[in-house]
Order: sequence, then C-alpha cells, then structure tokens
Amino acid sequence: MEECEVEPVVDVIRVEHQFMKNNNYLAMDPLSRDAVLVDPAWQDEKIEAALAGRGARLRGVLLTHAHFDHVHLAEQLSERHGCPVWMSEREIAVSGYRAGRLAAIDETPWRVGGLRIQPILTPGHTPGCACYLIGGHLFTGDVLFIEGCGICPDEMAAHQMFDSLERLKEALPGNTRIYPGHTYQLEPGQPLSKVLACNIYLQFRDRESFAAYRLRSGQSMQKLLAFR
Ligand SMILES: [Fe+2]
Repeated sequence: MEECEVEPVVDVIRVEHQFMKNNNYLAMDPLSRDAVLVDPAWQDEKIEAALAGRGARLRGVLLTHAHFDHVHLAEQLSERHGCPVWMSEREIAVSGYRAGRLAAIDETPWRVGGLRIQPILTPGHTPGCACYLIGGHLFTGDVLFIEGCGICPDEMAAHQMFDSLERLKEALPGNTRIYPGHTYQLEPGQPLSKVLACNIYLQFRDRESFAAYRLRSGQSMQKLLAFR
C-alpha cells in the first residue's frame, strides 16, 4: 500500500454513555488542518472541543461499521460541518444506515487535504466492516482491538473475521499504529508488531480453530444487539 503524503496528527477522544465506552479519533493534516473523525458518538461537546483545540476543519466522518455506538453522532456532525459521512457500500446495504450526506465507499483511496484515506474492507464483526489506513495509522473499529477482536454472530462471520485479520497481518508493516474503537487494557496507538505478540486472536493458523475460540460460550452479540 502506498504511503500518504502527510502523516496525520491523531487525537484519541474518549467518550462514554451508560455502560458504553468508545474511542473516537480525530486525524488531522497538520499543514492544512483538514481533518476527519472516526466513529463519533456519545459526547458532542468533547468532540467539538477536540476539533476546536486543534483549529481543525472537519472534512468528513469515517464510519467503520453501522453499530449504534459507532455512528451515533455522525449525521449530526456532518450536517453541522457540511461534510460527508463515509461508510462501505456493503455495510450501508446490509444495515440500512442512512444519513443526509452519506457516501458509499469501496477500497478506492481518496484525499482529505494532504491525507490519503485508504479503506480496507474487513468483514466479520459485521458484513461490511471497514478499517481506514491514514499514513501509518490504522483505525480498526470493532475489527481488531489491541488485546482481542470484535465478536462475530456465527461461524461464517468468524471465518470472515479470520480472513480479515490475516489480510491486515499480511498487508501492514509492523510499525503501523492500531487505533481500535474500544480500549481494554493497553492504550490505543500500539504498533502492530506489539499487537501481533499480545493478541491471542492473531495466533490461530486456520479458520476453524479461530472460529471455535471466537464463538466459545459466553461470547455473544445479544447484549450489543439489544442495545441497538
Ligand atoms: Fe460493533
């Protein structure tokens, strides 16, 4: 994958609502101050403060998938700032998510200021999940966490998740910084080389053993689905 011309400045915006805690991200071209937000949710004032603190111009909202805790403020921010909301074509089709300025994407990269946005389709947690590579920074939503990966609804989805994780392992250099949608222990921004060493979900050699572990008892989407 090509390098982008400008490395973004990345801010982690920690937001929460009831039992949900999410990581939102601001990625900004430090030269033009053109910026994108990843998966904005829950605390509008915190997100606006992050934008104002950087003097950033919001140029778009990147959505990794359509679960409510990742899309909650996307349309509101896009209307206020007059910018698009990007989501994979597949995720839009299967989820029915709609927003006034919603734009469907595939894996064709585009630019925001000097930043190069490269989507990588990574189905498994949902059928249309995408990660976004901006320079050496990968925004992973609920696909890849530092210590784990997103839950999967069934065996077919778990097989897809295995393939998606394998693709990330093969495509990205070890110094790629990983920014997941949720923090469990280690802070976001860990290098992929460290994630490869500490994440049990990246140790499996085949789809079947991965799926058996991912779908072990007690690992259910019911709580999440009930919340949507
Ligand atoms: Fe999710």
